[in-house]
Amino acid sequence: MFARVGQGCLALLLMGSSLCVAEDGSAAWLRYAPVSGAQYQRLPSKIVVTGDSLVEKTAGEELRRGLSSMLGRPFTVSAGAVGRASGGAIVISRSASSDGVDRYRITSSSGGVSIEGDTVQAEMYGVFHLLEEVGIERAIPSREVQSASSPIRWSDEWDNMNGTIERGYAGPSIFFESGHVRADLTKAAAYARILASVGINGCNVNNVNADLDLLTTEHIREFARLADAFRPWGVKLALSVDLTAPQTVGGLATFDPLDPLVIAWWKAKVDELYAAIPDLGGFTVKADSEGRKGPSQYGRAPADAANMLARALAPHHGVVLYRGFVYNNHLDWRDPKADRARAGVDNFSKFDGQFDGNVIIQIKEGPIDFQAREPVSPLFAALHHTNVAIELQTAQEYTGQQRHMVWLPSMWKWVLDTDMRADDRHTPVKEIVTGRSFPLADGRPRPGGFISVTNVGMEENWLHHPMAMANLYGFGKLAWNPDEPLAEIIDGWTRLTWGNDPKVDGVIDALQLGSWQVYEGYTGPNGMGTLTNILGYHFGPGIESAERNGWGQWFRGEKDGIGMDRTAAGSGYLQQYPKALAEHYESLATCPDELLLFFHHVPYDYRLHSGKTLIQSIYDTHYAAAREAGMYGARWDTLKGRVDDERFAQVSRLFAFQAGHAIVWRDAIDDWFHRISGIADAAGRVGHHPGRIEAEAMTATGYVSQDVTPWETASGGKAMVCHVAEGCTLRSTLTQRQGRYDIAVQYFDTWKGVSRFELSIHDVVVASWKADDQLPPAQFDPNLDGQTSTRFTVHGVAVRPGDVMTLRGVPDMREELHAGGLQAADPGALDTRSRQSRDYREYAGVDYVEFSAATD
Ligand code: GCU
Repeated sequence: MFARVGQGCLALLLMGSSLCVAEDGSAAWLRYAPVSGAQYQRLPSKIVVTGDSLVEKTAGEELRRGLSSMLGRPFTVSAGAVGRASGGAIVISRSASSDGVDRYRITSSSGGVSIEGDTVQAEMYGVFHLLEEVGIERAIPSREVQSASSPIRWSDEWDNMNGTIERGYAGPSIFFESGHVRADLTKAAAYARILASVGINGCNVNNVNADLDLLTTEHIREFARLADAFRPWGVKLALSVDLTAPQTVGGLATFDPLDPLVIAWWKAKVDELYAAIPDLGGFTVKADSEGRKGPSQYGRAPADAANMLARALAPHHGVVLYRGFVYNNHLDWRDPKADRARAGVDNFSKFDGQFDGNVIIQIKEGPIDFQAREPVSPLFAALHHTNVAIELQTAQEYTGQQRHMVWLPSMWKWVLDTDMRADDRHTPVKEIVTGRSFPLADGRPRPGGFISVTNVGMEENWLHHPMAMANLYGFGKLAWNPDEPLAEIIDGWTRLTWGNDPKVDGVIDALQLGSWQVYEGYTGPNGMGTLTNILGYHFGPGIESAERNGWGQWFRGEKDGIGMDRTAAGSGYLQQYPKALAEHYESLATCPDELLLFFHHVPYDYRLHSGKTLIQSIYDTHYAAAREAGMYGARWDTLKGRVDDERFAQVSRLFAFQAGHAIVWRDAIDDWFHRISGIADAAGRVGHHPGRIEAEAMTATGYVSQDVTPWETASGGKAMVCHVAEGCTLRSTLTQRQGRYDIAVQYFDTWKGVSRFELSIHDVVVASWKADDQLPPAQFDPNLDGQTSTRFTVHGVAVRPGDVMTLRGVPDMREELHAGGLQAADPGALDTRSRQSRDYREYAGVDYVEFSAATD
């Protein structure tokens, strides 16, 4: 982190200044960069912490660290019972309130500042709030009261104990390696600080597909070290457990949740856990889902399993987050009534009211699986006597895997604000998950809340894309207060992460705020799902992978039309919503365009509310969105010199990748729709690419043609590949008019070789580059397809008609290097569904070369 310390920095570093710290992203939004503003000069330099708990002491020290760094003068911390907001000090204290809600009050006067919390954690949240106000150069509040929306504000990490992360895109686990908790937990502790700074109070550290030997005594001792690392920040450790543990760890013959031996085993195991970790948050459970075993094996209900664990946890105040993500992944796609989206309500609503008070049903925001857009899960409206929490995914599994910039709070806010009309009343999702729509019998809100599947990794900046941490920040803010405006949230993040330069704020805020709609615009349209390769890594396009298999992500693209019929005449899914919402979606007159194909099967020339036909709207949206993504780079360039060089370069590289990949998405989807509908693009773009020269149309030396699967992920369905170790060439005599061009080469960067390319015009080399695997590390993809298709652009090349263009590719044909397999070689790069890939060969595949008028 302190890799590049410049001249004269030592003194500043000793003062705790962040000025000299290289901007590697590790500090996230807690950079505490110097701020201007005489308004803070009156802030007393004495900090008094009246409590003596670990969290309160940590809060005091954090305030000292942050203010000293931002204001460039020393602050001191002392203990003591000083009166409030007086005596020329900043006083951090605990109030007398005891309702358990994380609530703080900040009051300031000429005499000083008081930060008073109703819990010790709330004292810390008050401290972070004050630091944030200074960081974004706002006035110190004279009186402000803030309370958390709900008690559950957790991050779930899908880390495996071998150090890999399911759907993790930023390196190996920060918690585990080689089957154990890491010896060095510096990064884990730093992460807890980041979580606490936005009010997140729990962290479940292991994959919902839990390691089967997780609960051995040896591991429990190790987890205690993790809990120690989190504790100063008021972040509770939680664990995902597998219901078979009584068998796999305990050696019992059964894991039947009603078996007395099983009940006794869990009770003893939970007691053992709490002896080691007295403040353990509780368990998350994935059962009867995607191959995980569950209570159904014994004819038992989810409530039987959840309550059995809940009763073991209750004496210790632990909770069970039982996941509502239970569905059959062997559905019969020929059956028009079969519908995966129905699973949540079908599996859980009948047990409403049967779950214990410390069970919370954790429901994914949509009924399928974190697509670019889905309707809200109807399960939120079906449980009136059960605690619920919403599961959101900060890890961008289906939304670009932190290689595309997508600010997800825009989507989450849309979800949280959706009014479910349960009991024909105003019941927005945010009020359901914060327990207010269906309160407890005594009128108090039900315990519930928010879960983010985050999956940070060992990469310095946690999530790989310097823009991606805005999602975690936004999650924390919405979990604390789902009514906080998006513009305010992103502005806070940008200022704290990139500085208070108004130009920088303006550009980044605007880019982030529009990014979800842009991503949605070039991926799956009108509620069809992301249309990624669902059988692979969920990164690039792979449209029909969702059709005709048991996974149930069908969209039923047929000659006559497209979309899942979920009306009363179809699967009947729509009837799972409360009446008003069901009617709204059921009627084509009111069903919103953006969800149309999720609910209805319509012809391709169906006219949308927008006035366009469905097919033309798809073509237009994809062109517009890809163009928008293509402009991110130019907008970013306007910030050169206004942000640090390290992160500037990282973002530039990623925006260039996104621009190219957006074109891959655009063309795959438009070409596929063109073929299935047989309807031409009225604007004449789809299938016509005047500046494009297909690789298979060039004169090849060594290069041979290869079909690409699925066909829509390569222009013309084909690529050229080179199997000759010395390299191959593609040549074409150009017919372009004389001028300066941007030349884009669309090639395939497969895992894990490093092919080399060289582009020449008339024997003058204009560019050379390596296919060096900048894709998500989970892409163990040896295939030429939409996941590996990558674009390299060289700008402003002078070209005359008759010039000969030569593209030379040198493949990387190394055989497998690690006899032990990839797992040992590169744990961070593992994806559970692709472990069998063992080939380093890369054949310098080329799709096409495209000329466009130079932009610079
Ligand atoms: C998705 C994801 C899996 C994950 C599952 C879950 O299907 O692709 O990797 O295990 O969700 O949430 O349980």
